Order: sequence, then C-alpha cells, then structure tokens
Amino acid sequence: MPEPIVLLTRRATFAAAHRLYDPSLDDAANERLFGKCTNPRGHGHNYVLEVTVRGEVPAGSGMLINLVDLKQFMERCVLEHVDHKHLNEDVPFLAGLNPTVEALAVAFWRQLEGALPAGRLYEVRLEETENNWAVYRGEVSA
Ligand code: NI
Repeated sequence: MPEPIVLLTRRATFAAAHRLYDPSLDDAANERLFGKCTNPRGHGHNYVLEVTVRGEVPAGSGMLINLVDLKQFMERCVLEHVDHKHLNEDVPFLAGLNPTVEALAVAFWRQLEGALPAGRLYEVRLEETENNWAVYRGEVSA
C-alpha cells in the first residue's frame, strides 16, 4: 500500500563574515563584479539554514527523523564550523570557495549528505538576507 511521503524541515541560524572575491580577476574587476561585497576586510550576515528531509512516516515512532538528531547533524556538519567564523579563511571545507549563498548551499549539502541516513536529505535552503537565498536539492547537470 502506498505510504504518504512527507517533507520535514529544521531551521538554524548562524552569524558569519565573508568576502566575495574571484582570485582569477584583478581588484578592479572584482569591484565591478561584486561591488561592496568584495570589500577587503569582509562583512557579516545572519544566515538562516533550513534542512529538509523526505520520506515515509513510520507507524510506530511517527518520526521521519528524530528532530533532535537532525539538529545535531546540522550542528556537527555545518554550524560548529561556520558560526562566528570568517568563511573565506576559517573553514577547511570551504577552502578556495568564493562564498556566495549558492556556493555555500552546495557545500553545506555535501557536508550533511554523508551524515544523514541514506536518501533522506531533500533540500538545503540557505538565506543570506531576507531578500536573498539559495536552494540546493542535490541536482547535478547532465
Ligand atoms: Ni555578503
């Protein structure tokens, strides 16, 4: 018998600094491309991370995933590494990455994917400001 498929989301917030910068361009070109977001000493955001898992709801526990476990996965895989850090300089798994919100969403997905039960991770949504966010669902180009 078909079982209902449910999406379940946990939200967390963190604060971090970053600088948008493409090392293959000179400073003037970086400024044209990124404007004040490439200011040399960086700037900060209050990020909102939402992680969504997908699957059937088991009859007994009624829990697609234990939300305490999901919270801990998010802390261990992402938040402990990035909260109150400079994303360009302090985070080994972001080394060499230009930390745009969309690049961060993919990097956070990769951190979480191996830790969560196989096949459960559905979406990583990362909000940089109330007007800007990125969503990654594990898709890759053909
Ligand atoms: Ni920024």
